[in-house]
Amino acid sequence: MDIESIAGQIDSEIQNVNSAQKLEAFRLKYLGRKGVLAELTAGIPTFPPEQRADFGRKVNALKNRINSLVQEKQGSLGGGESESATAAACDITMPGIAEELGSLHPITATIKEICSIFERMGFAVVEGPEIESEFNNFTGLNIPLEHPSRDAFDTFYLKDHGASANDERRTTNDRFLLRSHTSPVQVRVMKARKPPLAVIVPGRVYRPDAVDASHSFMFHQVEGLMVDEGIRFSDLKGVLEVFAKAVFGKGLKLRFRPHFFPFTEPSAEMDISCIICGGSGCSVCGRKGWLEILGSGMVHPNVFKQAGYDAKKYSGFAFGMGIERIAMLKYGIDDIRLFFQNDLRFLKQF
Ligand code: PHE
Repeated sequence: MDIESIAGQIDSEIQNVNSAQKLEAFRLKYLGRKGVLAELTAGIPTFPPEQRADFGRKVNALKNRINSLVQEKQGSLGGGESESATAAACDITMPGIAEELGSLHPITATIKEICSIFERMGFAVVEGPEIESEFNNFTGLNIPLEHPSRDAFDTFYLKDHGASANDERRTTNDRFLLRSHTSPVQVRVMKARKPPLAVIVPGRVYRPDAVDASHSFMFHQVEGLMVDEGIRFSDLKGVLEVFAKAVFGKGLKLRFRPHFFPFTEPSAEMDISCIICGGSGCSVCGRKGWLEILGSGMVHPNVFKQAGYDAKKYSGFAFGMGIERIAMLKYGIDDIRLFFQNDLRFLKQF
């Protein structure tokens, strides 16, 4: 086919191009690597030398014409970029950019697990503030001002955070502090609700402890409280047994040791048989075979009285445990500071 007839054919063909797809087909047909123009160019050396330059010029002119026709058409189709340009910018055969999935912090995961175990037993999850009144943290829990057990707790007091004249500051204890345990939420819940009630209370607490592998000035607790008529110590034991076996396994043994807390009477600390050695004695349990995991007891009548409950009619139990301790045992972590250093090498393991 000679150049003149190709030029004529182009004009009629471009008329029929009405989509970007057709334009690309047209472009490939003439300007593609194996297209008409490539063929013509490849044929140049077959011409006698005196005709080559003339033919070459014609081929070039035709190429320029086709190029400008394509560009014009592109403009009139409103495309701007040709599809091949778009296709080059987005190579669907390239591997995708993987979204990195985060995971729950081991403390958050442990709180969720503990709460859901108690929720299945009918407990409701509630929370209280980390800045607490001295009354709720101590006096409402039967810990009077002069009580020696305040020492371990006597800690981060706030100067004045602008409390108004008619809030709790007007009661006997008018200071505020970072709560040293989640037990003040017992006081709040009993003020706000009437029995029967069963709540589970996760949250942060603060103590004047020097930081080492097993101590932190801030850590997490979960508090439990159940109040109704006829609640007995056996209810406390039953609930805690279900909890401990759900977290650490069915083969677990429990032990309640008499203890003292001002806000419970009788009080007990609960031990579980060592989950590392099964009770025969190892370095984790200090050769004792038992691990202490929580404090508990029957709600003290004075706490009921402070809350305005009839201590003759109602009874209840309460318990409180440190989340870090549970998480450390569960995951085999030997240093509490790891939880708070935000080191991804540690956190990525969960
Ligand atoms: N509040 C106690 C502590 O922090 C734990 C506790 C809670 C004990 C409820 C008895 C009842 O050590």
